[in-house]
Amino acid sequence: MKINKNSFIGVFDSGIGGLSLLPALISILPNENFLYVSDDAFAPYGLKNKESIVNRCETITDHLIEKGSKLIIVACNTATTNAIETLRSNYSVPFIGIEPAIKPAAFKSKSKSIGVLATEGTLSSSLFAKTSATFAKDVKVIEQIGSGLVEFIESGSLDDPKLSVLLESYIKPMLKQNIDTLVLGCTHYSFLLPQLKKLLPNKVQIVDSSDAVAIQTLRILEKNNLQSSRKEEGSIQYISSAIESSLLNFLPKNTNVSMLSTDPI
Ligand code: DGL
Repeated sequence: MKINKNSFIGVFDSGIGGLSLLPALISILPNENFLYVSDDAFAPYGLKNKESIVNRCETITDHLIEKGSKLIIVACNTATTNAIETLRSNYSVPFIGIEPAIKPAAFKSKSKSIGVLATEGTLSSSLFAKTSATFAKDVKVIEQIGSGLVEFIESGSLDDPKLSVLLESYIKPMLKQNIDTLVLGCTHYSFLLPQLKKLLPNKVQIVDSSDAVAIQTLRILEKNNLQSSRKEEGSIQYISSAIESSLLNFLPKNTNVSMLSTDPI
């Protein structure tokens, strides 16, 4: 099937986390249209097994391809680390994934100790193990599962004091191990930047992968001759698998969010 270069780029996550990639994407690809799918009826992915995550990713991919997506961004570390290999072998559309930024973090760290905050699904994946073994040979990697954080973020409870207490309980042990670089290994965690900045001493830098994803998307569009020829600014449409989408807590009032109904896992 011939892909139309003026079609949209599909972006999906278990919920609102992937929204944190949109500013970097729009800034580098201002003329592209995006269709964002939030699978919030099935969030969080972080506690699901690989088979269920692959199943959700395939359901969403089928929908995006049916609508004409020219490229798909898996805007979720948990989905990427568990499902991207299967997606790439089962579909011909190009996929861009997001993984914890271990390589730049290892490069930046002077203390040779880096923290990775991510979901259980990401930290237990073989792709994460492979990336760490390849790029973090010379540094100590302190892995921390961010249990419960996605639930707070999805519910829009960013100011809940219980969230700060929980986050502190994850950060303190990493600081004790002398980390000077913290990798945000879940796209949802970018929404915690204000709280993280309060908890972290100045010497600790925060690293995420959003700019790298945007640059890689541009490269792949160029390589496949899929850049839009549109001159005007692109648009973003939103779809959610939940009736009461958590997207509504984060998007400007009156933003239209359509419903994607899919079978349960
Ligand atoms: N935003 C996702 C990630 O980057 C997944 C969070 C979840 O659903 O557990 O890992």
